[in-house]
Amino acid sequence: MKPDPRHFWNFYSAGRLVFGSGSVARLPLFLKPWQARRILVITDRILEQVGVVAQVVDPLRAAGLDVVVFNEGEAEPSCAIADKAIAAARQAQADVLIGLGGGSNMDLAKITAAVVAHGGTYRDYFGYDKIPGPVQPLVCIPTTSGTGSEVSHAAVLTDTERELKESTLSQQLRPALAVVDPQLTLTCPPKATADSGIDALTHAIETYTATSYDALEVPAAEPFPYDGKHPLGDVLAEAAIRRIGYHLPTAVAEPANLAAREGMSFAATLAGLAFSNGAVAVVHALEYPIGAAVHCSHGAGNGLLLPYVMRFNLPARATEIARIGEWLGVADAGLPVPEVAEQAIVAVERLQARIGIPQKLRELGVTRAQLPGFAAKSIGIKRLMLLNGRRPTEADLLSILEAAW
Ligand SMILES: NC(=O)c1ccc[n+]([C@@H]2O[C@H](COP(=O)([O-])OP(=O)(O)OC[C@H]3O[C@@H](n4cnc5c(N)ncnc54)[C@H](O)[C@@H]3O)[C@@H](O)[C@H]2O)c1
Ligand SMILES: [Zn+2]
Repeated sequence: MKPDPRHFWNFYSAGRLVFGSGSVARLPLFLKPWQARRILVITDRILEQVGVVAQVVDPLRAAGLDVVVFNEGEAEPSCAIADKAIAAARQAQADVLIGLGGGSNMDLAKITAAVVAHGGTYRDYFGYDKIPGPVQPLVCIPTTSGTGSEVSHAAVLTDTERELKESTLSQQLRPALAVVDPQLTLTCPPKATADSGIDALTHAIETYTATSYDALEVPAAEPFPYDGKHPLGDVLAEAAIRRIGYHLPTAVAEPANLAAREGMSFAATLAGLAFSNGAVAVVHALEYPIGAAVHCSHGAGNGLLLPYVMRFNLPARATEIARIGEWLGVADAGLPVPEVAEQAIVAVERLQARIGIPQKLRELGVTRAQLPGFAAKSIGIKRLMLLNGRRPTEADLLSILEAAW
């Protein structure tokens, strides 16, 4: 049954997207419209040590701006670190917040910008569309090529006590400005490059194989954070998948290869634009409880699960998966669609192995006894179930997890 089906789709992005190697040196110019005087940069100590923070902060200080650095960001940020960042932002009284880092620091800056602007706690904003108005002026500058948080409407916090990942989804969380400078990713270590890169591939594949916007079983009047598969999302997903297949192995093997870094930076932003309008689905729904329980990186968890979920989706999405195979270099040579689709999944498994993503959940420390609990938590993330191109039951989710274990 399709209650009041949607006959339209939307497209949102960051307010302004700047892309280019060396572009952060021009940050004072990009910030001019805000007439900012005091800026808080939310980042972490590793990025200070490798010199990334200086590349952003030095031009700002040279332009006479007052810059405060919060360097306590952490991978997969916890609620406790969000409390610290919010306290630091209140104390700094900055006019502009900059999230500098991978998805973790960018998400931390987004949550901070929301709470500083509207008060209360981040818990008030978990879920969709709970942020009542514009957040504090927010700039996001990625240093990994993966999450697309610089253009997305999402921010994820880990509730370490309840072992839950909590998503805040709001169009207000799209940064006013995204500056994507591939040079900032040159110091990203191979593991973080591989994990975040395969997260971007997951974003593109989940969007391309999602429920179509006009088949989404959500009333058009109901606020919903994703529109499903749609024509613009398809264009972005294809462009991302082609580039990730081509550039990701090189970016992992040769960290200093700027052409590969540029290709991955562009691809991850494209995939961010795709998923944050279209969909993430069962891969992400399964990763949330697993990541919260065993503390693997979001990208490693997604990358591990991706081929297993593609195989589950195959009966409903063979044509789409076969196209993905062509974009990843599988020669179709007149083979039937299901065979090309099977080859596509093998291509993803090969990529996974080549860049060192674990292939079994037990390698991440997951026990078999944990699987039913993960399936139960995942089926509860209803929005992601509705978005998956093949609707799973809880038993299906458990079968996927058993296969991946
Ligand atoms: N908001 C969104 O739309 C969205 C989408 C997907 C994932 N996420 C979230 O993003 C987080 C994962 O982000 P990520 O994959 O980008 O990794 P990350 O931000 O967790 O970074 C991983 C590690 O790599 C280091 N690092 C990052 N860039 C570096 C560089 N250039 N040089 C040296 N070290 C560097 C960081 O200091 C960190 O220790 C998760 O919390 C996930 O839930 C958010
Ligand atoms: Zn993701």
